[in-house]
Amino acid sequence: MADFDVIIIGAGPGGYVCAIRAAQLGLKVAVVEGRETLGGTCLNVGCIPSKALLNATHQLHEVHENFEKMGLMGAHPTVDWAKMLSYKDDVISGNTKGIEFLFKKNKVTWLKGWGTIPAAGQVKVGDEVHTAKHIVIATGSEPASLPGVTVDEKTIVTSTGALTLASVPKSMVVIGAGVIGLEMGSVYARLGAEVTVVEYLDAITPGMDAEVAKAFQKILTKQGIKFVLGAAVQGAEVGEAGAKVSYKLRKDDSAHEIAADVVLVATGRKPYTAGLGLEALGVEMLPRGQIKTDDHFATNVKGLYAIGDAITGPMLAHKAEDEGMALAEIMAGKHGHVNYGVIPGVVYTTPEVASVGATEEQLKDQGRAYKVGKFSFMGNARAKAVFQAEGFVKILADKETDRILGAHIIGPAAGDLIHEVCVAMEFGASAQDLALTCHAHPTYSEAVREAALACGDGAIHA
Ligand code: NAI
Repeated sequence: MADFDVIIIGAGPGGYVCAIRAAQLGLKVAVVEGRETLGGTCLNVGCIPSKALLNATHQLHEVHENFEKMGLMGAHPTVDWAKMLSYKDDVISGNTKGIEFLFKKNKVTWLKGWGTIPAAGQVKVGDEVHTAKHIVIATGSEPASLPGVTVDEKTIVTSTGALTLASVPKSMVVIGAGVIGLEMGSVYARLGAEVTVVEYLDAITPGMDAEVAKAFQKILTKQGIKFVLGAAVQGAEVGEAGAKVSYKLRKDDSAHEIAADVVLVATGRKPYTAGLGLEALGVEMLPRGQIKTDDHFATNVKGLYAIGDAITGPMLAHKAEDEGMALAEIMAGKHGHVNYGVIPGVVYTTPEVASVGATEEQLKDQGRAYKVGKFSFMGNARAKAVFQAEGFVKILADKETDRILGAHIIGPAAGDLIHEVCVAMEFGASAQDLALTCHAHPTYSEAVREAALACGDGAIHA
């Protein structure tokens, strides 16, 4: 008899969700986690702390930009950075303790320490070897390194260091216009830093619907963020004060330098699987460092599975969670499934940007006949009332069947609004199905309905 039915390595969103679901389904579960707290990168140094700082700085921006317009006069608040960081830390500990509580409630054992897999069916933590019928690797990812750039997490930082800077920098260079760069760049721009984003490609947020990405860049530029696009960063060096980033413009190969107090390297993440003993076990890997799995998250080693950032697919907490739940069902003898066609993506800037399904570029590439329904938040009374009317909703639907193929939203609460489209897509809905659904007035969600109406006979308020 094995010690456990399931041992999961890693207590991030993939691992802890898998553990809770597996326990709910009657399995005896342990999770190996070496951090002092549960929750992985997302809760400790990722999604959650960044949202706390985004919230605080968004509120600050609101006070400065909009309060007087609403007749709210008086002294503007100043930033107590140490206090803001401690607010962020409180948010982290509230959430990590919440998972500890859920583990106790569901009788999930926390094996504290870093795990290795000495042989199939075994996990070693410290000096102890535990056995399990199923082992799940949910070890997540780490920042990818950039040649010529040495991170010290003080002056040249990754997203982790960007959450604990000693003070608010006067200037910041962000390398990479992806999600991390733009979210953290927004935080520091709102705190008064001069932020310049240097990006290799000619557009920001690779993979995003191009029309939305363009609108997004325009809005961020208006907020004071500078962009240098088509620029390949060659290196970054710490100097006496701050750091210097050198880059080459791709169009003419010209060399440039830019100095800043702090440099944030946000050029992607890579699977974190070092030290698990996968090579000795003979686990098949993919060329880009991910663990190779089949449709049921199984590796080539019997009883060994992997989920989340350690395997292929978007590196998103909710994708890992869904995989964790599906795998728990599979290990319990049920039929777990993830619909990779309906995984939303959200950028938590102001305005938020959210998307699900195909982009217009993907549909063009597929040679698919489609129609576009668009609606600007300028026509949404609620958005106008709260000075959030920048942006639009764009719905892409099949030209013949009207079935929704994708949706892209830039605007207020986009990260929440996207989910009505996700549900609609899960049910194979047409744009007309959304358009015929009564939406409360006045809500931002009416903009989604209007975009759906625009796929048919037209929006009302356009
Ligand atoms: P990313 O892959 O989203 O973006 C990296 C950017 O860096 C790309 O635009 C790339 O072209 C650029 N780049 C790469 N090398 C470069 C060079 N030498 N010079 C200039 N630019 C260069 O990566 P990011 O932002 O680091 O995020 C990592 C992962 O974490 C992503 O998978 C992201 O989806 C996930 N994440 C998701 C969040 C969310 O859902 N809100 C928040 C934060 C991270």
